[in-house]
Amino acid sequence: MTTVYLNGQYLPQDQALISPLDRGFTYGDGVYEMIRAYHGKIFLLAEHFARLASSCAKMRIGAHLTPLEAVSERLLRENGLTGDALIYVQITRGTAPRSHVFPPADTKPTVFAMAWAFTKNPAFDGPGAIAILEPDVRWSRCDIKVTSLVPNSMAAQRAKELGAHEGLFVRDGVVQEGSLSNFFAVFDGEVRTAPLSNYILPGITRAVVLDLCREHGIPYRETPVFATELADADELFLTSTPYDVVSIDCLDGRTLPAERPVTRRLAQLFRAVVERECA
Ligand code: PDD
Repeated sequence: MTTVYLNGQYLPQDQALISPLDRGFTYGDGVYEMIRAYHGKIFLLAEHFARLASSCAKMRIGAHLTPLEAVSERLLRENGLTGDALIYVQITRGTAPRSHVFPPADTKPTVFAMAWAFTKNPAFDGPGAIAILEPDVRWSRCDIKVTSLVPNSMAAQRAKELGAHEGLFVRDGVVQEGSLSNFFAVFDGEVRTAPLSNYILPGITRAVVLDLCREHGIPYRETPVFATELADADELFLTSTPYDVVSIDCLDGRTLPAERPVTRRLAQLFRAVVERECA
């Protein structure tokens, strides 16, 4: 039986009950994090909790996060997760009568967390991901990791129905990011990715990859990558907590050249960071 965390208690999953008046249910009014564990050890927990704190602050959700860091560790333990795993933490504005304005200030946020064993899609370690371009119909605060993910879900579903793994959002001609990943292109050895803005999530994996570029002298620029430029890209890749660094094999029917030296190097360097942090 899976053990989950809800509002201070560890419970069997089927006993973790939430009111239908929870703001997460009525308004999609919540934030979340997805955290990875490798060999049963949590990767970059502090970075994920810093982003969760930032999401809460931007949404004006007043939750105390510090005790939650230990929850992630305990969920791995309680569920016997000693290999690769994902941890999901969600905080909503709490339960209150339905009203567009925020509930009274003393309303307690709802805090939920769960963890499960994770196996990466084997295609990602083989040829790579198949991606398609999608119009970016999301709101303009994509920097906040909100639980209202309908446009992301629809993009992922459309990608699946077309035999692809990921939908990439294009706004104002710029490939901003994927439905659950950040997007990178390589032109003549230079790595490019959309700059941080309200149109992308500040990915934790993205930040590690840019640090690795800096550290290892791999040229990079945080600059818009336009959809019209993609035909000239030598390599394309994605980063995210469940993907790590994944090469794009095929985008909108165009198969990328099989030689992907920059992506391969960054994937290896990223793996070395994982092994160091989660030894
Ligand atoms: N999402 N962009 C979007 C829109 C995302 O949803 C995610 C991750 C990322 C990558 O961020 P990170 O490297 O910190 O995982 C970028 C998680 C995995 C999810 O929604 O399940």
